[in-house]
Amino acid sequence: MNQLQLFLPCAAGVEDFLAPEVLRITGLPPGCITKQRGGVAVRTSFEQAMLLNLYSRLAQRVLVLLSYTEYRNEQDLYRAASEVAWERWFTPSESIKVEITAQHSPLTSLNFAALKIKDAVCDRFRVTANGVRPDVNTQWPDVRIYTHLTTDACSLYIDTSGEPLFKRGWREDKGDAPLKETLAAAMLAACGWLEGDADLKPLYDPCCGSGTLLIEAAQMACNIAAGSRRRFAFEKYRPFQRAAWDALKKEAADAELVVDAGQKPIIFGSDVAHRMVDFAQRNAQRAGVAHVIEFRGGDALQRMPPVEGGGVMLLNPPYGERIDVAGVAKGARHADANFEDEAAVPRFGARELAQTDNGGEFFSQLATHWKKNYPGWSAWILTPDLKLPGKMRLKETRRVPMWNGPIECRLFRFDMVAGKMPEKRAAN
Ligand SMILES: C[S@@+](CC[C@H](N)C(=O)[O-])C[C@H]1O[C@@H](n2cnc3c(N)ncnc32)[C@H](O)[C@@H]1O
Repeated sequence: MNQLQLFLPCAAGVEDFLAPEVLRITGLPPGCITKQRGGVAVRTSFEQAMLLNLYSRLAQRVLVLLSYTEYRNEQDLYRAASEVAWERWFTPSESIKVEITAQHSPLTSLNFAALKIKDAVCDRFRVTANGVRPDVNTQWPDVRIYTHLTTDACSLYIDTSGEPLFKRGWREDKGDAPLKETLAAAMLAACGWLEGDADLKPLYDPCCGSGTLLIEAAQMACNIAAGSRRRFAFEKYRPFQRAAWDALKKEAADAELVVDAGQKPIIFGSDVAHRMVDFAQRNAQRAGVAHVIEFRGGDALQRMPPVEGGGVMLLNPPYGERIDVAGVAKGARHADANFEDEAAVPRFGARELAQTDNGGEFFSQLATHWKKNYPGWSAWILTPDLKLPGKMRLKETRRVPMWNGPIECRLFRFDMVAGKMPEKRAAN
């Protein structure tokens, strides 16, 4: 298990942040990883796969590639899956689920293809385990097997994560539109809040909802490993060694920073809905960072800066309307319409367009409030509304493409300069 080919899927646009994260976590030289569309491939050991599950904030899963073959029909898939030594990974008392995604596959039914792969895995166990075969469990499988089909190639992966990695294990309270923790981490990576050796600037989310961005930021600042409060599928796998895992977890726990009781918080959140503030507080407690974040109620259009001297605002504000999603790119398919984490698909094909109407009034008022009261702050806003700078009459100083699930977004940066504002003439 020393030379595994891992694939870590991530949201499209996040590869550039995930690649350095993988190098940082594993300590491997850059030549060991390959950036691909929708993820990063890395050749490394089972122990490093555990480490990546424990520390990665940006990957959606850690998959191990077990087979890569050409195929033309379902029989070829059956053969490819029969040749994988599944018995080296798990026993037939573990339940399985086969997920399948495809781009430009000639096969007519992905469900039938998934069934063939499941049959191949079970038939192989019948032979290698004296007639005993694993059960299928589509809801809570012990083992997830991912298949990705292109026009003529089939990749088979075993998943080491189990629940997708954005589930950090602390969220019980959520509002209507919580951000995925992996996207929150990507926003933090893009704005560079934690980078550099200088003291951290104050961080403020004035529409904090259930607190995802701030909790993610606080865990990063306190050096709390993303996966330290959850379990992983690999804990049931044959190569798993409890002692090695316990040592990795202990090392992570020992590295957590203890904040002095008297130290003032530099992470702040507020939301107009007091129910959300309660949720955020409870989530922060479970994440072990309640003592480093200050949450308040209040309208973003009225709240004054939480501290003097400037800082960074980071938010995904309300869009003020239902988001209609239109159009799916040709060729991208998935066998299960209820696929719970679309982003776990090893390759991305779907490109959907979000249509939001305006919320324009809210944003022009917010910009006026910030221009007047927030000199020295930069605001990073994630939005599917590409016309937001015009609505705010502000010229963005950065725009980073990001995907919120299937919705194409931009992370805009606006700098609130004291005295002179970078005004942008409204388009009309
Ligand atoms: C898209 S959600 C943010 C979700 C959040 N990032 C999370 O992960 O839970 C937008 C939030 O803005 C809040 N909100 C709406 N209008 C607001 C206002 N005028 N001032 C402050 N918060 C507002 C809503 O209550 C909601 O929680």
